[in-house]
Amino acid sequence: TPIAAVIPAAGRGVRLGPGAPKALRTLNGTPMLIHAVRAMAASRAVSLVIVVAPPDGAAEVKSLLDAHALPERTDFLVVPGGETRQESVKLGLDALPPEYEIVLVHDAARPLVPVDTVDAVIEAVREGAPAVVPALPLADTVKEVEPAAAPDEPEPVVATPDRARLRAVQTPQGFDRATLIRAHETVTDNVTDDASMVEQLGLHVVVVPGHEEAFKVTRPLDLVLAEAVLARRRL
Ligand code: C5P
Repeated sequence: TPIAAVIPAAGRGVRLGPGAPKALRTLNGTPMLIHAVRAMAASRAVSLVIVVAPPDGAAEVKSLLDAHALPERTDFLVVPGGETRQESVKLGLDALPPEYEIVLVHDAARPLVPVDTVDAVIEAVREGAPAVVPALPLADTVKEVEPAAAPDEPEPVVATPDRARLRAVQTPQGFDRATLIRAHETVTDNVTDDASMVEQLGLHVVVVPGHEEAFKVTRPLDLVLAEAVLARRRL
C-alpha cells in the first residue's frame, strides 16, 4: 500500500526569534522544509508528500519544492495551512487521495529524522497499529506546576511524575488513514500531537524507538545543533 506524508509547515516559529516562517529558514543553505521533505522521501514506501504551507506562502513553497529535486517515485502537493497545527494537519488530510491507507504526519521542524526511524514507524502501522509514535526517554526530570497567572508570579510545583514512565514524543507519527481522519473529525480540544487525538478515541498508540537527530528545531540553539549534525553527516 502506498504511503503519504503530511508535513505541517505553517507555523511562524516565534520561539526561534524574528525572521521568515520557521520551515523556510535555512540549515546549511537549504530550507528546513526541504530537509524535512527529503527525510520523508528517503523512505522507499513514501510516494506522496503533502506540504501544508504558511497561508500566505503556498506559492513560494511550491516553487521551492520545484527547485529541489526529490526522488522520481515521490510526488508532492502544497496546500495552505491554518491557525493551529491541528488545523493545518486537517487541511493536509483534506487533500489526501483515497488510495493512501497509511499516512505519516511529520513536523517540518524535525528536518533531520533518519530514514530508519521513518521506516520503523511505517512498519508498526503495517503490522496493524492504528497509531504509532517514535519516542525517547527523558534526560530531565519533569515537574507539573500551577502555571503563573502573570509573568512575574511564582509557579508552585504540583507534582513530579516518575521520569522512568515518561517519553518525549517525536514525529513522523504514523496512522491508519481512517483512524486519523476520524480523530480529526471527532476531537476538538487543542492538542499538540496527532496521536493524542487517537488516544481520545480510546485506541492504542504504539511506541517505537525515536532518534536523537529527530529533535525539534524550536529555539536558536537548535539551529546550531542542526547545522552541526548536517556537517557531520557530510563527513
Ligand atoms: O509550534 P510547534 O513547534 O508545535 O509546531 C510544530 C509543527 O507544526 C511545525 O512544523 C509548524 O510549522 C507546524 N504548524 C503548522 N500550522 C500552525 C502551527 C504550527 O503547520 N498553525
